[in-house]
Amino acid sequence: MPTTATVATRTDASRMDDPNWWRQASVYQIYPRSFADSNGDGIGDLNGITAKVPYLETLGIDAVWLSPFYPSALADGGYDVDDYRNVDPRLGSLEDFDRMAHALHAAGIKLIVDIVPNHSSDRHEWFREALAAPKGSAARDRYIFRDGLGENGDLPPSDWESVFGGPAWERITEPDGTPGQWYMHIFAREQPDFNWDNPEVRDDFLKTLRFWSDRGVDGFRIDVAHALTKNLEDTLPSTADLEAQGEALYLEGRHPYWDRDDVHDIYAQWRKVFNEYNPPRTAVAEAWVHADRRARYASPEGLGQAFNFDLLQADFDAAQFRGTITKNLAEADASGASSTWVFSNHDVVRHATRYGLPAAADSAGGIMAGQAGKQWLLTGGRQQDVDVELGLRRARAASLLMFALPGSAYLYQGEELGLQEVGCEIADSERQDPSFFRNKGVEIGRDGCRVPLPWTTAGSSFGFGAGGSHLPQPEWFAGSSVEAQEAKEGSTLALYRTALALRGELQAAETLEWLDTGRDDVLAFRRPNGWTCITNFGTEPAGLPDGEVLVSSSPLEAGTLPGSATAWLR
Ligand code: GLC
Ligand code: CA
Repeated sequence: MPTTATVATRTDASRMDDPNWWRQASVYQIYPRSFADSNGDGIGDLNGITAKVPYLETLGIDAVWLSPFYPSALADGGYDVDDYRNVDPRLGSLEDFDRMAHALHAAGIKLIVDIVPNHSSDRHEWFREALAAPKGSAARDRYIFRDGLGENGDLPPSDWESVFGGPAWERITEPDGTPGQWYMHIFAREQPDFNWDNPEVRDDFLKTLRFWSDRGVDGFRIDVAHALTKNLEDTLPSTADLEAQGEALYLEGRHPYWDRDDVHDIYAQWRKVFNEYNPPRTAVAEAWVHADRRARYASPEGLGQAFNFDLLQADFDAAQFRGTITKNLAEADASGASSTWVFSNHDVVRHATRYGLPAAADSAGGIMAGQAGKQWLLTGGRQQDVDVELGLRRARAASLLMFALPGSAYLYQGEELGLQEVGCEIADSERQDPSFFRNKGVEIGRDGCRVPLPWTTAGSSFGFGAGGSHLPQPEWFAGSSVEAQEAKEGSTLALYRTALALRGELQAAETLEWLDTGRDDVLAFRRPNGWTCITNFGTEPAGLPDGEVLVSSSPLEAGTLPGSATAWLR
């Protein structure tokens, strides 16, 4: 049921208590180690974020989603959590967290934190206990331990591959020094999967959700929400067995670990916890599932909202955009959730670069681990094969379109600067992403979108901090910096600020009406409050519908909308 309740503007005090605040929110993702560094150690931190609250306020976002800031060895950028109820000392303390949350709330900005329930890190106290305890012990039962195959158990229990490449099983050494059991890890070796059949695991996460909710966290982003429950028979099917079953395996929820139906029992329980709070805590699922199964995650009895990555995976193409938008609005409507839109995050090639890749580069397949354009990233360098101008122009058009859509818009830090992916400027020896190492460099990995933000045109680490930067920043960051863009009329930062401020006024019923533009490469839609958004995906200029132009992603040309551009009219 689309809600017709209008969401109050951000300055309205009642807005912070509105239980529907998330439905059409603009949520800004911060990758904390790369946002702002307050103490010059080259690593972004919580005090750095607190210092930038005025910037976030001027940007006009409704909420911040914070990627993991928990103690971690950073085997996977913090998605390998040592302790779910603490702050990495390199990033600050719990007191710093409270100060940050307070500063955000005082500025009318909600706070969403990342919960990583599929796996812990291998340094988590439970995993260390499991390694020290014998086979069959209660400590081992919190994870997924199995005997190996073959005479001496020296073959993995199955041939399954981890998402980052290489086997999904790792053999341990038993406390007595002999080669021992194997444990499952869908991701890196340092990320052992929890056994969600174990009640202790379930209880501990309820405790974690309450811990952060009690500290004033407004919502949660649930990492790999579709992997928690598993069905591991004594004899495991091989990868070939699974592949032979085709799409039905997924559609019927029969895969041994992806998107099983019983995962929703967990979220039903979590929902009860969320509803203990006022306003209820929100959640959004990161679930790379078949589109037909996504609504289950977004159900009001479950997490309430789910990311849809369809638009992110679409080409810059009118038909693909229209089809995706229509389908997702219908789907959200059916589930009772609002839709979500996202073009960039910490796992994908930045959209300003994606849209400038040669058509041959398979950007649609390039989701995890920056497979998109891996050829150019590895061999070409950004200048050579990426049409930087076209990429940015299209990214601005796409983002402005997204901000006009009903539903929540998820932004990733730096996209408001039109930042490009950093490619070959990161030397192999400087890379951090496990997907790069586990694939032996065949996949370039995700470091290119995780480089610390440029705040100033000059100075140490372009204003990121008083010291260095944990991933190298290229020289061209100067021109993309906040300082450079604040001085420049028509900058991407200015576009985002204008659009996000107007978006607050745009929020009406969660519907849109497509308009006939007479062209296949031009999309236009009207929102119930009478605003129109038009995007020209082609190259020929397009005529504008009636109305006053409020904002456009590129300058109009003789009263027409040029190619690769979006405009809003009232
Ligand atoms: C999610 C995260 C990604 C991480 C993975 C394993 O996909 O977004 O960054 O590597 O889960 O936790
Ligand atoms: Ca720091």
